Amino acid sequence: MSKQILVIGGTRGTGKLAIDCSIDRGYSVTLVARDPAKARSLFGDTIRIIDGDVTRPESLQTAINSDFDAIIYTVDITGGVGGRGFFASRQSVREIVYDGVVNTINAAKKQGFQNQFILLTTLGLEAPSIIMTVLDTIKPGVIRASQDKATYLIESGLPYTIVQAGALHDGNVSSEPLVVSQADIPMQLNYQISRQHLAQILVAAVGNAITLDKTFNVYGGQELLLSPAIIDEQFQKLR
Ligand SMILES: NC(=O)c1ccc[n+]([C@@H]2O[C@H](COP(=O)([O-])OP(=O)(O)OC[C@H]3O[C@@H](n4cnc5c(N)ncnc54)[C@H](OP(=O)(O)O)[C@@H]3O)[C@@H](O)[C@H]2O)c1
Repeated sequence: MSKQILVIGGTRGTGKLAIDCSIDRGYSVTLVARDPAKARSLFGDTIRIIDGDVTRPESLQTAINSDFDAIIYTVDITGGVGGRGFFASRQSVREIVYDGVVNTINAAKKQGFQNQFILLTTLGLEAPSIIMTVLDTIKPGVIRASQDKATYLIESGLPYTIVQAGALHDGNVSSEPLVVSQADIPMQLNYQISRQHLAQILVAAVGNAITLDKTFNVYGGQELLLSPAIIDEQFQKLR
């Protein structure tokens, strides 16, 4: 039977590409979207769409059930300057980045979901860098909120995969080869990854035992489409 995936944050960016990638693999996808009409215009009837918002816990309880093999969570604050939530209030960054994850995990556990929770976040949260200091200024409190969301997931008891990505771009390829690592590295300018490649990594992690209960960094990717062998070679480094 095909895998059943619940995506939250799939109406743009990495989450949207993760849905495309899941469909290509023959997975059955459900998307929680706060704008179902927008979701329908993107995906037609190729996926199931449920009206939901991570700031509305009751909407998540309707969406989540124990049948899903994995939840892929790629929500980030949107709107505002640049459409990426820049210069939003500290409170709204916290509400989306941290409380959204808490609400989703609580709803999932309440609904009896016990499978893999794949969480997208940023690398370099634990090692100071100029880039992250600037990010934390334009998205106030994002470092702390991102650290706390990962901790909440780890302590939730759900099987987890936490993917800490380098800086995202919408190009096809990056200048460096794909790297998966588990060191506490500071963010650097050359740690970039295309959303397309990141989506492939997230979907490759679904049901992949080696990624369970692991937190890892990912950046680079020089091939147009990362082959399963390239991804697998990197996943084999996980301890
Ligand atoms: N930007 C970077 O350079 C960077 C670097 C490393 C890691 N990351 C991580 O990558 C992720 C973001 O990826 P991205 O930039 O590709 O995504 P994105 O384009 O910012 O998309 C964010 C998604 O979250 C949804 N969303 C926002 N608020 C929501 C809510 N209240 N309820 C439900 N859905 C909501 C948005 O829906 P709408 O369409 O309705 O707005 C959209 O689908 C984040 O987890 C971030 O930590 C980003």
